[in-house]
Order: sequence, then C-alpha cells, then structure tokens
Amino acid sequence: MLWNIVSLFPEFFTSPLSCALMQKGREAGLVDFSLFNPRDAAKDKHKTVDDRPYGGGPGMVMMLDPLVKTLRAMPQPGRILLMSPKGRPFTQNLAHELSREHALTLICGRYEGIDARLESLFPLEEISVGDMILNGGETAALAIIESVSRLLPGFMGHEESGTDESFSDGLLEYPHFTRPEEYEGLAVPEILRSGDHGQIKRWRRDKALDATVRMRPELLEKARLSEQDMEYLRTRQRRAAGRNLFLTLVHYPVLSAQKKSLAVSLTNLDIHDIARSSCTYGLGAFYVATPLEDQQKLLSVLLEHWVNGPGSIANPDRAKALSLVRGVAHVQDAVDDIARKTGQRPRIIATSARGAGSMGFTELRELLAEEPALLLLGTSHGLAPQILAQCDGMLPPIRACGPYNHLSVRAAAAITLDRILGDWY
Ligand SMILES: C[S@@+](CC[C@H](N)C(=O)[O-])C[C@H]1O[C@@H](n2cnc3c(N)ncnc32)[C@H](O)[C@@H]1O
Repeated sequence: MLWNIVSLFPEFFTSPLSCALMQKGREAGLVDFSLFNPRDAAKDKHKTVDDRPYGGGPGMVMMLDPLVKTLRAMPQPGRILLMSPKGRPFTQNLAHELSREHALTLICGRYEGIDARLESLFPLEEISVGDMILNGGETAALAIIESVSRLLPGFMGHEESGTDESFSDGLLEYPHFTRPEEYEGLAVPEILRSGDHGQIKRWRRDKALDATVRMRPELLEKARLSEQDMEYLRTRQRRAAGRNLFLTLVHYPVLSAQKKSLAVSLTNLDIHDIARSSCTYGLGAFYVATPLEDQQKLLSVLLEHWVNGPGSIANPDRAKALSLVRGVAHVQDAVDDIARKTGQRPRIIATSARGAGSMGFTELRELLAEEPALLLLGTSHGLAPQILAQCDGMLPPIRACGPYNHLSVRAAAAITLDRILGDWY
C-alpha cells in the first residue's frame, strides 16, 4: 500500500515509520511512504504556506495554492483523507475498508486548519481520530497509518491478532495475562491455566461482553451477539440488579389484627429463609429492623452462632446466607447504610397483601439498573401507615386467583424476589 503524506513537518514521521513492525512492513514491500511538504510548492521567496483568516479571529489558515499544487503533482493519490476534528469518526470498520485500497493520501492540517475551498477542488474525506484537538494532523495520520497497515495481509506475525482484537466483532477485547502466575497477591484467573480451550473461549467472550457493557455500552447495539451472549448479558443484568436491591424485614411499626401499630418479636424461620432467598437472588443486604433491645440481642446471638460459631462449620451455606443479615433499629438506619455503601439514597418500596400497588415488578427491575432500592416487608398484619408514608412506591400484592391470601412473609419475600430478579423474564 502506498501512503502519501502531506505535511509541513515531514520530519515528524521519521522515527515512527522506521521502527518495529512498520520498518519490517516497509522492508517486506507491504507499505511504502511518500512525504510531500506543501512548503516546497510555495511560490514566494519566504515559502509562505499560511495567512490570516478572512473575518478576523486568532491564528493562521493554511493557504490553498501550495496544497493544490502538491496534490495535483502527486502521481498516485488514491482516496484523499483530510485530518480534521470535524470529520467522520475513524473506527476499526473504516480501517478495514481502507486496508483494501492500493494508495491513500493523508493531508495533515496545522494552525487553525485549511482554507475550506480545498473541499470544492478535490474529493476530500474529512476524518477525525477523536473528539479532541491536536496540534496538527500528523498524530492523527500516524494513528490511521498504524491501524490500517496492521490489517494488511502479512503485516503482523499472527494473522489472528487482527481479528481477535477490540472492535473486530463489535466488542472490546478480553483481558490478557502472562507470567508470573501470581504477582503481589494477584493471581492469573484459574480458568486460563486450566487448558480447557472451550471454557477459555467462553470466559474470554464473557469478559469482552463485561468490558463493553462497562466502558462502551453503545457498541452492543451493533455487535454480532449469539443467543449465548444474550443469555450471559441477561444474567449479568440480573446480578447487577440483585446487588442494587436491599430488603428490610420490619418488626416495628407494624399492624396488629385490630389495625393498631405495634412491635413484634423476631421469627427465627423468617430470618433464615429470607436470608437464603436474599443470597440466592444476590441481594446487597438483608436488614432485620427492630428497636427492641432484647430482640436485637437475640439476633446477634443467632447470627454469631451461624456466621462465626459452630453453625458456620456445620453448614457453611447457611453461614453465607446469614452473613447478608444486618440488624438495625429502624428502617432509616437501613436507608443510611445503603446510602453509605452505594453513594445513593435508595428508593423505598413497600409491599402489601392489599391494594393495587403503584409500581410494577418490571419497573422496579429496570430502576435497579440505575439506582438502589430498599424493599420493605412487614411482619404481623403488615406495614403501619407511618412507614408507608415514607415509601416512594408500592409493589402489587402477591396473590393467586382465590380469596385466600395469607402467605407467610418469607414466602411473599421469595415470590417477590423471583418476580423482580428471577430468570423467567
Ligand atoms: C489545532 S488543529 C485546528 C483545530 C480547528 N481550529 C478546530 O477547532 O476544529 C490543527 C489541525 O490538527 C488536525 N487535528 C486536530 N485535531 C484532530 C482530530 N481530533 N482528528 C483529526 N485531525 C485533527 C487537523 O488537521 C487540524 O486542521
């Protein structure tokens, strides 16, 4: 491929075009460079190439005549690309397209840019290498030369390197690791040492999806995704939503059968089962709210036994679930804790066996992609009005078709979590 470079500073290119792969590419005859300095075509004795802008304003503008003469004298210009921050964004797709050309001309602007009439005299394609301003087009030209040249057959040692990289299939690339296996306590992921090439391929694909979601989510719209990729993204989204969801089992103020506000005691079974559901659905934390000191002590004893004591040895799975439990005196303490952890005040969402609710399960799931939410479940006969008054929304009740509706709070918690985060949607 022939690269014609039009620049007022041809010496800029000396080192980058004569080292490493580029030098090898030149030696192998894969790339060739011709440098043209418009100053050589300037007609006055001072070799003037720039002048003040019409209409005033700072800086100088590159004059037409030296550029026109340079381009007209060029034996084989090919497609002519003008480096410009206003241009079409340069992408890997465009690099692939350009790699099929035999000759390309890159015009490097300087100062405030080039007299705009050049566009009417030549079929110019304006290309930008990013939303920032460089001193001149030379750096932009080098970026284009490198990315296009490395796609030429034979330019790189391993042909695969070009197709495996970021953007080649619309995703960012997976992370790389090399020796040593461990460095300052940081180990290379186990799977990469397993020798299982199928698993390694899937792991790399998942990491590429992770990186793209995190850094450039807009790329996913055009990426080529398989059904397995879609499933991974859905699971990832559910996991992220789960981490943003918190739950509080409220023991005060709740309603008695006579609709009076009161405090009730803890139920061991509820704490165990809701902790297990919270862990299964990957929640951020499960708060048990009671202002009663004896109940708080009871909770500490229970947690100590299962999280650190003999229970944790007998049943490590239970220890894992119960380690999600936090004892708090009031709902507000849970709200403050979540705000500290996430940097955002959570939306407080109530649940009830009655009424129509003000927010759907899908709406809550979507909200969890952006912000944390605290789900309140009431013990006894449900959350008291003073708590409901603090809520930002209420989910519809869990009910079947018949008139009987007396689910235990732990059953309601499990069903609610599945409706928000379960893999059925
Ligand atoms: C200082 S810049 C001129 C910027 C111009 N006044 C503007 O605000 O758009 C000088 C030259 O650098 C090159 N250049 C600067 N930023 C660039 C970018 N992001 N992509 C491609 N070329 C760029 C162009 O050739 C430009 O004519």
